[in-house]
Amino acid sequence: MVNIGVLVSGSGSNLQAIIDSVEAGSLKASIKVVISDNSQAYAIERAKKHGIPSVVLLKKGYSSREEFDKEVVRELKENGVELVVMAGFMRIISKVILEAFPMRIMNIHPSLLPAFPGLDVQKKALEHGVKFSGCTVHFVDEGLDSGPIVIQAAVPVLDADTPETLAKRILAEEHRIYPQAIQFFSEGRIEFSGRRVSIKKNAEPSATVENPLVTVFGTLNENSPP
Ligand code: GRF
Repeated sequence: MVNIGVLVSGSGSNLQAIIDSVEAGSLKASIKVVISDNSQAYAIERAKKHGIPSVVLLKKGYSSREEFDKEVVRELKENGVELVVMAGFMRIISKVILEAFPMRIMNIHPSLLPAFPGLDVQKKALEHGVKFSGCTVHFVDEGLDSGPIVIQAAVPVLDADTPETLAKRILAEEHRIYPQAIQFFSEGRIEFSGRRVSIKKNAEPSATVENPLVTVFGTLNENSPP
């Protein structure tokens, strides 16, 4: 189980996917707080509907990015957050948050990084003519969409695609892999080797009890001839 805080700015469909996974029991996490920098964000409504505390912080109330981020950190710490989940948060975070949660901040980005960091990425993918795009869950570091990659999912780019149709296809994958990445973190299975992330096999006894088949197949695979 991990306590998470979700940072949002907009629709919050990824937040919804995380809420749904928690409620379905496939994601062992507790959403302690949702923080938005936009008072109109539909994500706030989603949090309210599920009884999750939410906070709106407006940048005009703060003299600098660092002052704003200090308040974000205060809210996160006060709510006992262990993992920060950025889900459509439209601000670049400063060292204030990075240093408070080292390798404890995840983001989702709608491209196969390192291709197309930044904004308007579906348009950039179409203009470049790539045949596949997708989404990336990564840890956040000081660069732009540049941190260690946890999971990626690819989707085809079709001839008739517009930025909107491609975004929709990618979003469906985002909703699948973001809860999965958080669950890996929750189970303590994420390992770093430099900037490479690998997912340890789940050796926890509780997993054996919850799903014996996983263990059986895992054992069979290990003993199979090469
Ligand atoms: C998603 O496309 C995500 O990849 C990007 O911002 C968008 C957020 O969408 N970082 P939503 O608010 O979760 O619906």
